[in-house]
Amino acid sequence: MILRILTLLTLVAAPAAASAAECAQSPGKVIELCVSVAQGEARYAVRRNGKELLAPARLGLDFKGEPAARFTALTVAGRRVIDTSWQQPWGEQRVIRDHHTELGVTLTGDTPLNRAVRVVFRLFDDGFGFRYVYDAIPAGQAVEVAGERTEFRPGGAWQAWWYQALGADRDEYLYTQTDARRITLAETPLTMKGADGVHLSFHEAALVDFPSMLLQADGAGTLKAWLMPLPDDVAVRKTGPFATPWRTVLIGDSAAALADSRLTLNLNEPNKLGDVSWFKPGKYVGVWWEMHLNKTSWGSGAYHGATTANVRRYIDFAAKYGFDGVLVEGWNKGWDGDWIANGDKFSFTQAYPDFDLPALAAYGKARGVKLIGHNETGGAVPNYEAQLADALKLYAGAGVSVIKTGYVRPSGTLVDTTGGQHWFADQYLVRHHLHVVEQAAKRRIAINTHEPVKDTGLRRTYPNWVSREGARGQEFNAWGNPTNPPEHVTILPFTRMLAGPMDYTPGIFDLVQGKTELMRRVQSTLATQLALYVVLYSPIHMAADLPENYEARLDAFQFIRDVPTDWEVSRTLAGEIGDYAVVARQPRGGQDWFLGAVTDENPRKLVQPLDFLAPGKRYEAQIYRDAPDADFRHNPVGLEIERRVVTRADRLELALRPGGGAAIRFKRLD
Ligand code: NOJ
Ligand code: CA
Repeated sequence: MILRILTLLTLVAAPAAASAAECAQSPGKVIELCVSVAQGEARYAVRRNGKELLAPARLGLDFKGEPAARFTALTVAGRRVIDTSWQQPWGEQRVIRDHHTELGVTLTGDTPLNRAVRVVFRLFDDGFGFRYVYDAIPAGQAVEVAGERTEFRPGGAWQAWWYQALGADRDEYLYTQTDARRITLAETPLTMKGADGVHLSFHEAALVDFPSMLLQADGAGTLKAWLMPLPDDVAVRKTGPFATPWRTVLIGDSAAALADSRLTLNLNEPNKLGDVSWFKPGKYVGVWWEMHLNKTSWGSGAYHGATTANVRRYIDFAAKYGFDGVLVEGWNKGWDGDWIANGDKFSFTQAYPDFDLPALAAYGKARGVKLIGHNETGGAVPNYEAQLADALKLYAGAGVSVIKTGYVRPSGTLVDTTGGQHWFADQYLVRHHLHVVEQAAKRRIAINTHEPVKDTGLRRTYPNWVSREGARGQEFNAWGNPTNPPEHVTILPFTRMLAGPMDYTPGIFDLVQGKTELMRRVQSTLATQLALYVVLYSPIHMAADLPENYEARLDAFQFIRDVPTDWEVSRTLAGEIGDYAVVARQPRGGQDWFLGAVTDENPRKLVQPLDFLAPGKRYEAQIYRDAPDADFRHNPVGLEIERRVVTRADRLELALRPGGGAAIRFKRLD
């Protein structure tokens, strides 16, 4: 079907005269933003439905080698309204509407680099974004950014879900909920809820060749942009002219509204790769969980996991149950000894002798299963970049179409060619990750980054950047101390997931693994493990457990076999951050629906209307739900499977047990 694209463009001539303030409204007049210059500062303020939401807050960048600029005037550089729709090659939603008002202003400053700064604001009914465009800096002129002045000033009382940024483990922390005034330095997306139920999420879009932006709070309600610096303390090195990433704020009346916003994608550039139909969303299994459980090892020797025989076993399993890929970790030389300290010893082309890549590629090909590559770099970026071209050539020849990359090394100690020590998401790492993605695209290979720079919607521009980790994933449930508490998966949909897809690797069936201590186990019920395939979006999802654990529960496994990873429409039906989440998605090109619901440590009864189903149609609801006595503490595998005919007029009662959930396939009958 050919997509009808409707574009409405209204250009209003820019007034020539400088003014003190300019305002613009979102298309539905929900949000109004005013930008002004006074007392040497440029500021913006936001009202929502006529009420002040964000108090006047500063704008701008400061440069090394010149004093902080005083802004003295403001002129309008352009206004327009855009209403267009575009299509994702794969995604949580096929068609995305981009409806916004754009206001461009030029700030006049009293320093050479800040003498003419264009600020482009885009106002949507569900939030806004703005970026700085330094197009008056002459082509080729090198500049150093010392810091960013951008502030966000939500007035009033807010609860925030956050963790302290700059930790050694990057973004792999549990969230805490506090009064927003207790924030110190937070990673984004930073989600907050106001006393009146308004929800905000601060983040950025299109993070390219710039450092990741953190938010530093002053204890009195102001959040200030804080750019992860390079080793010599310069925040950013650019050459003129340049534009910054978009600074964004999602605004909604509920947590669900944040999750269903497509603002971040809309602020990214369109697909630069052209036809990417060579990437197919899908599901995979792999030689992975067994290493995290210490049953086998990444390194060579008697316990080596990535042996030809073991990988064959996974390929057979994948072929039998309809999986697209088999991830193999520990196949390449370099894992023996302290691989985190010695990441520069990894080879990305040489396999251990007991792993026969050509034979396995052929074995998989004959069975319709692809190998998924794994490149753990140990954060040794130069070593990886030096081998990247050869590695990609080798993998492309073996039919590999997805590579999982990894950067396990304490943030702040990632080393470049000169020995400089980097944060995991400074400008150097931001450039590196995109370089890998661009090189991989040339070989028609998709990238799934672990220990990544946070997602900022770049999958729109580079649709081979398909998924990332960037939060505490399932691996913590193997060895974390503590493991992820039940509420973790009720926070992720409204925090980390606002950034983009996550490779959480759901689907653990052996939840206890003989462990007695609750805090060392997978703290969820079996129904929750199924629900996560719907609740957490990713175009590639792993069935992370061991084949034998699935074969022991083929009844529950059926849901994982049935659930797709590419969607026509996604709707977050309900949710409270840290309490519960209910998500429904319709498969792309399909007529069924899938629903996932998860709760925290508290049992919960939710009455869910089924009004998302098509009118006049009957569906078989295949319901995978917690047994009445299921509980993540003492009966995590208690599961009931029920089939029932429903229509959109029905309401389903979801009785979620502690740490529990529900996973439902609505199979259309007529
Ligand atoms: C951390 C990744 O998140 C995990 O999935 C992987 O198995 C290990 N690094 C080893 O690369
Ligand atoms: Ca990790």
